[in-house]
Parts: sequence; structure tokens; C-alpha cells
Amino acid sequence: MSVQLNENYVNGFISDAEVKNIQPMITTAHNLLRTKTGPGNDFLGWVTLPFDYDKAEFEAIKESAEKIKKNCDVFIVIGIGGSYLGARAAIEFVKSPVYNNMKKDTPDIYFSGCNISAEALSELLAICEGKDVCINVISKSGTTTEPAVAFRVFRALLEKKYGVEGARERIFVTTDKARGTLKKFSDEKGYQTFVVPDDVGGRFSVLTAVGLLPIAVAGIDIDALMKGAQDAANAYTDDDISKNDCYKYAALRNILYRKGKTTEILVGYEPSNQLFNEWWKQLYGESEGKDQRGIYPSSVIFSTDLHSLGQYIQDGMRNIFETVLNVEKTGFELEIPYDEANVDGLNFLAGMDLNKVNKTAMQGTLLAHVDGGVPNIVINVEDKSAHSLGYLIYFFELACAISGYVLGVNPFDQPGVEAYKKNMFALLGKPGYEAEKAELEKRIK
Ligand code: PA5
Repeated sequence: MSVQLNENYVNGFISDAEVKNIQPMITTAHNLLRTKTGPGNDFLGWVTLPFDYDKAEFEAIKESAEKIKKNCDVFIVIGIGGSYLGARAAIEFVKSPVYNNMKKDTPDIYFSGCNISAEALSELLAICEGKDVCINVISKSGTTTEPAVAFRVFRALLEKKYGVEGARERIFVTTDKARGTLKKFSDEKGYQTFVVPDDVGGRFSVLTAVGLLPIAVAGIDIDALMKGAQDAANAYTDDDISKNDCYKYAALRNILYRKGKTTEILVGYEPSNQLFNEWWKQLYGESEGKDQRGIYPSSVIFSTDLHSLGQYIQDGMRNIFETVLNVEKTGFELEIPYDEANVDGLNFLAGMDLNKVNKTAMQGTLLAHVDGGVPNIVINVEDKSAHSLGYLIYFFELACAISGYVLGVNPFDQPGVEAYKKNMFALLGKPGYEAEKAELEKRIK
């Protein structure tokens, strides 16, 4: 089994009766999801995606990935939110956070269009100088400002460098299958396009072309990734919490939330978990944070953050719980060297594998935080393989949907994301926003 939940560090905070009492709510959520009768039921394509994904497109993704690997030194992935986090998380988790600095036969991969920073864009343009570049612009709506700006900039770069014809061979577009300006524009220009299915929302889209193309370009086995998700989908069909770790996670976090634990911290012990944490935060934050409720998703990497946020977690306000994502096999071994002088007094560790020290740090921290009043759910994942990642992605997506239904929200919309966009467009003077602009300007101090 790729993923397994350990509830031993949460038991002291939750009684058996509480778990029994939440079972009917989990069953209701399960039925809403499986019969497609809950809120947001037109966005449930991700549930069966590991089985019924478009096989022809899957092969086309692999072909394009090969072409990109052959034709470029630098591959720029342009997208924001659900249109970039999954791919970036996967590349860092399975390959490395320093993927670009590693010896490899795949292109360097950079992410753009996920901010409005002149600094970040200028730096990336400088990195591209003298290099062969391909781009993948990803936007379901095709109208999101951040990626649209970056796409303008990189399209101009490619057209200048390779001409309009040459640029066409280097631009890959992932967007809606029929609607939207990006699709229309791509068809006119003759770009290779891939589809974000209508019934899969951005934050649930990593196992579509949105994530799969960049992940394949990084040399990750996307067949294994899908197989992992498939295995997870097959494993979590029973609505009985005692037989379903995924639903148990949804149940435990809802019980804790109702007891005032309003912040969940996803904990990793490997720096390569950092972007996975970010993907998870978007998934849960955008799915649950609405109607003035929802658990606030936060994250840390230990032991790094034990030297910054560790004090707060141990001793601060008791409204938090942790979910520890424990990668059992890292794939690396590193022995601590013996030092004759032993100035640092560390010879008691000489010959020990650093993984053992890291695991011991985890055990010590789990006990300390539980003693400090912080419940800990532990999720063990076998390794950092593509298969395990696919399994884990599906585990968290399914748990998020069940959890959102138990919370009583629509886990598949994101009405709150529009507010800043409206204000930004009005203040920038977008036609049609004249009245709002005047009102907003009066309020700026
Ligand atoms: O999860 C979501 O729906 C969002 O985070 C979107 O992915 C994000 O806003 C980008 O949208 P789009 O792909 O339409 O550019």
C-alpha cells in the first residue's frame, strides 16, 4: 500500500464516540459524491479521471514531451494556481527542488505567469538568453491576467528568435477544449493544444494535460503516476471510516475543526515536499475556505521550520493540528562521518544514516507536539516514486471533496478569487469598470 494513515498521535484528542458520530456525515458526503448529487456536481471529472482519461491525448502528451526534450534547453511553464502548482509539486517531489541544477538529459523547467513581478519575469528572460526555449501556456479560462501577460512576453521572445513559423513549433497550449480566447487564438496560430476537461476544476487538474505535459518533460513516468491514482481510486470506495484511510483523514480533520482546531499544518521532513505543501494548501484553501468557515491550511518543512515556527507550534495558541506527511524511503543514504577530534561531540552519531536522524527528529517532534496539546495525524507514503505521488494526489483530492461536503460547503467553486481581480481591473482602467474605479480610488489611502 502506497499511503497509510497512523492515528496514534491524534487518539488522545478524539474519542471513539466522536469518530462513530461523524460516520453518518461521511456516508452522506460519500453518497453525494458518488451519486453526483452534491453542490458542484458538474466538476467531478477528477473522480474517475485515473480510469477514463483521454488515451489518445495521453499519447500526444508523451509525443510532445519528447519533442520538447529534443528541441529546448529551457522549458517555460506559464500558469497560476491550479494551472501550475501540481506540475511544480510533482517535479520537486519526484525529481528534486534543485531539478534545474542536476545532471540530466531533460530541459531546465521554469514557472512563469504565477505572479505579477517584473523582477521575476526579467530574470527569466535573462536566463533564456542564448538558450533554446519552448513554452507551455496553461489557462483553463484563457483570460487570467498573470499568465496572459507572461504569454505575451514569451511569445514575442520566441517569434523574434525563431520567426512566427519557428515559434509555432515551440508553443504548447493547455486550455478549454472549445471555448475561450486562448483556444481561438491557438487554433488561428496553429499551436499544438491540450485540453483541460470541462468537468475538472483547476486545483483538481494535475492528472490532466495541465500537470502531465510538464511532468513528462521532466522525465517522470506519467503511466506510473496515473496507475498510482488508479490504485488509490480502487482502494477508497468503502464509506466505512474504519476501512478507508482517506475518509478517515477527512473525518479526523472535521472532528478537530469542530473542537476549535481551525488551522491545519501540513508537515514535511524533506525540502522536496515544499511545493507539494503549496499544492495541498491551494486544494484545501480554495475548496473549503468559504461561507465564513473552513480550516486554514498552512505548512512547514521540518526540521528547518522547527527553528522558526517550532516555538509557536509547541507553545502558542492551541487552535492548530498537524498532518505529517512521512516519506518512508527517500531513495538516498548518507552516513555521518567519524571525526577523530570530535570537537562537536557528535561521534555518537558517526556511521549513522542521516535518514535515521531525520526519522528520530520526526518521532521526537511528534511526541513533543502532542505533549504541547497539538493533535498529529500521520500519513505515511512509501517513497517518492511517480506511483506513490499519483496515489497521494488522489488521496488528498478525494479527502478534500468528502471533507468539504461534511463541512457543508461547495468544494468545487471559488467565488472569492474574483474580488481582487475586479478591483485590480477597475484600478488599472479596464474598459467597463469606470464606476468601480472612481469608488475604489476614493478609498485608497
Ligand atoms: O483552482 C482554480 O480554479 C484556480 O486556482 C485556477 O487554476 C487559477 O485561477 C488559474 O485559472 P486559469 O487556469 O483559468 O488561468
